[in-house]
Amino acid sequence: MELSQKMQNAINAQIQAELYSAYLYLAMSAYCEDINMPGYARWMRVQTEEEMEHAMKFYHYVFERGGRVFLEAIQKPQAEFDSPQDVAAQVYAHEQHVTDLIHQLYELALAEKDYAAQVFLQWYIDEQVEEEDNARTIVEYFEMAAGHPNAMLMLDRKLGARQDD
Ligand code: FEO
Repeated sequence: MELSQKMQNAINAQIQAELYSAYLYLAMSAYCEDINMPGYARWMRVQTEEEMEHAMKFYHYVFERGGRVFLEAIQKPQAEFDSPQDVAAQVYAHEQHVTDLIHQLYELALAEKDYAAQVFLQWYIDEQVEEEDNARTIVEYFEMAAGHPNAMLMLDRKLGARQDD
């Protein structure tokens, strides 16, 4: 069964959303470099790569289902943030937004009776649980370290130890 036009449009929109996530996180990484938090900058760079993988997984899926990818413009991400804590809070909020988008895609797959897409989207539903968990944990780390420069340095080192996925 080929992708319906509605499913194809929705997945194309999600490719854009994942690429925007990559772009936003790269902007956050650049900000972290600028404020001398190389560890968190690395964490955000690895996250950028992960978002690219999310986009490409959708990209290949569209073709696998006989569809066509149409790339849309990606908006300019914000460049400045109040603090690393602000970055962490915005990552968490953004991931919650992405979870909503994935759930909407799943609802569309249900409405379209696209069983294959439902199975495919299960991976993203699980992935978003992990994404939100990681983001929430970092918000909590920053809350613990707030006001303690040594703890902040240690946290930056810990975040910088993130391996490529
Ligand atoms: Fe692609 Fe961070 O969700």
